[in-house]
Amino acid sequence: MLITDKSEYKNKIKRILVSEEEIRQEVIKAAAWIDREYEGKPVLLVSVLKGAFVFLSDITKEVTIPCEIGFMATRSYIGTESSGNVEIVYDLAQDISKYHVLILEDIIDTGRTLKAVVDILKGRNPLSLRVLTLLDKPERRVADIQADYVCFTIPDHFVIGYGLDYDEYYRNLPYIAEYGE
Ligand code: IMP
Ligand code: MG
Repeated sequence: MLITDKSEYKNKIKRILVSEEEIRQEVIKAAAWIDREYEGKPVLLVSVLKGAFVFLSDITKEVTIPCEIGFMATRSYIGTESSGNVEIVYDLAQDISKYHVLILEDIIDTGRTLKAVVDILKGRNPLSLRVLTLLDKPERRVADIQADYVCFTIPDHFVIGYGLDYDEYYRNLPYIAEYGE
């Protein structure tokens, strides 16, 4: 559904869960972790679109080691419901067998998306494969998967902002909020 009314848009932002400042602090820490773990190694930061685009942008500005960036896109959600179906709609261009690959995720919910991406990338024999996620909702996990680095562990709420959407809206919020009435 197309939304054009600004007050209707704002009314669904229930409450702020993670502020801009809290995000900034964690982004700096996560970038420092990347610097430490991957210095002297060929590293490819893989962003899973679209949700991770803001996170990737902010984190790469804080990383100081040489790194390459690649994009993948998956589709698994309609509204707030997990379809259980994970489809790769855009794939990497790089031959990842030459790289230590770090997947940057926006959120791990059921874990189905990440599990599918990890299984596909493992099959391409990267030098190593790890996952850094902005948000983790462990209560909702269905797939047997966990991140190597988590910025924020959150309760089971549907969240929006900082790249995360509800029906493609709210990605532009600078903070992470709970969606609802
Ligand atoms: P999965 O259930 O772990 O496979 O989650 C797949 C994708 O659903 C995530 O990468 C997000 O793009 C999206 N998603 C899951 N939970 C939320 C949420 O609370 N808000 C917005 N998007 C979400
Ligand atoms: Mg995502």
